[in-house]
Amino acid sequence: MAEVRVAVLGASGWMGKVHTMAYQTFPHFFGTAGGTARVVALVEANPAAAAELAARAPGAKIHKHWQAVIDDPDIDLIDICLPDSFHHEVAKAALEAGKHVYCEKPLADTAAEARELADLARAKGVITRVGHAFPRNPVHDLAKEIITSGEIGEITLFKGCQHIDMYGDPLAPFMWRADGARAPTGIVGDTGSHVFSFMEFLVGRVSSLVANNIIATPRRPVVEGQGYGGAAALTGKEEWAEVTNPDATQLLCTFENGASGVVDFSRIAMGRKFMQTYEIYGTKGSLAYTYDEVNRIRFYSHADRSGRRGFREIDVGPEHPTYAAFLPLPNFALGYNESKIIEVAEVIRSIVGGTPMWPTFETGHHITQIVDACMASSRQRAWVDIPLV
Ligand SMILES: NC(=O)c1ccc[n+]([C@@H]2O[C@H](COP(=O)([O-])OP(=O)(O)OC[C@H]3O[C@@H](n4cnc5c(N)ncnc54)[C@H](O)[C@@H]3O)[C@@H](O)[C@H]2O)c1
Repeated sequence: MAEVRVAVLGASGWMGKVHTMAYQTFPHFFGTAGGTARVVALVEANPAAAAELAARAPGAKIHKHWQAVIDDPDIDLIDICLPDSFHHEVAKAALEAGKHVYCEKPLADTAAEARELADLARAKGVITRVGHAFPRNPVHDLAKEIITSGEIGEITLFKGCQHIDMYGDPLAPFMWRADGARAPTGIVGDTGSHVFSFMEFLVGRVSSLVANNIIATPRRPVVEGQGYGGAAALTGKEEWAEVTNPDATQLLCTFENGASGVVDFSRIAMGRKFMQTYEIYGTKGSLAYTYDEVNRIRFYSHADRSGRRGFREIDVGPEHPTYAAFLPLPNFALGYNESKIIEVAEVIRSIVGGTPMWPTFETGHHITQIVDACMASSRQRAWVDIPLV
């Protein structure tokens, strides 16, 4: 058994907490044969939040600046849970220092930056991973198994969406997610990248698209200490900041394998707390999924006899090893945090076994290419081809 020594960057944020928890938790479910992890360093810029870090990862060094962990010889894995605009710079520094790197999505702000990271990782021979955890819920392994077995035939159409309403209220305070300087691609890299990860995992690479990005609320009040979707009582004395990245996107695309796609996502869909769906239509059947029934796939087979055709509901259960790792009975449900525990277990297994696992920085590059194409297409009001390199 090998122990991987980890530094978590952005440790007090949402992802920083989830990742730290996952390193500490995964051996309960996946055992120790694939390796274990020890969080040896936490990096957090916010001094108020940093105060309680020591209790969350006993013995870990606490740093304010990410540069402090990059060259530390006692760290094997740099885990980047910082806002998007840090990803490229920090991942590059970590790769150059020969570290394994696990980076939250989106991998980088541009495809060129993501390509640079993927090439550097290959040259350094290290393990990389992007935090596209949603497809790691075993229900999507089941969907992939059905697709790969040919049971739905050739895929003709993918329909997908992801909507939240954190910015549905025009008075919800400004934060880095709405700032084009700190999150240049806005909802496209933030939420679109999740839908794109399903597309890449289940259908294949996107080869062209046309997209429409919109900013629904051009200015938001600045309220200190407010997070995403916070409801602040405004005093009327607030400063207002320009929203400089997209709130919502609608897109049409074609895949390398000839399938088509219809996709939309937003942070302004009032009432949609978390809507994530896909439907995949093929020549012999189809699949449908919604996050509201997070462990269920609906499968339609045209091979069923006439008069008995219809969608059957299949709940992923303990016959699937990744589900069985958590629960002995079906229908108890694996949710978001379990997807992250699965992801972290795979990161550690890849490092200890020396075997990359999906989604690596190569995948991160493909997804960032789609993000880039959305930004370019919307700007140019035209279809954009994606080079399949
Ligand atoms: N995979 C997913 O499902 C998922 C979900 C949410 C967020 N994310 C991604 O994770 C990343 C972080 O998002 P979040 O929601 O956790 O954000 P967050 O704002 O909750 O956390 C970011 C943390 O980084 C800290 N920080 C900011 N600048 C820093 C610096 N220079 N040095 C050290 N610490 C610094 C902040 O103080 C904060 O604690 C983003 O890239 C986001 O896109 C992924």
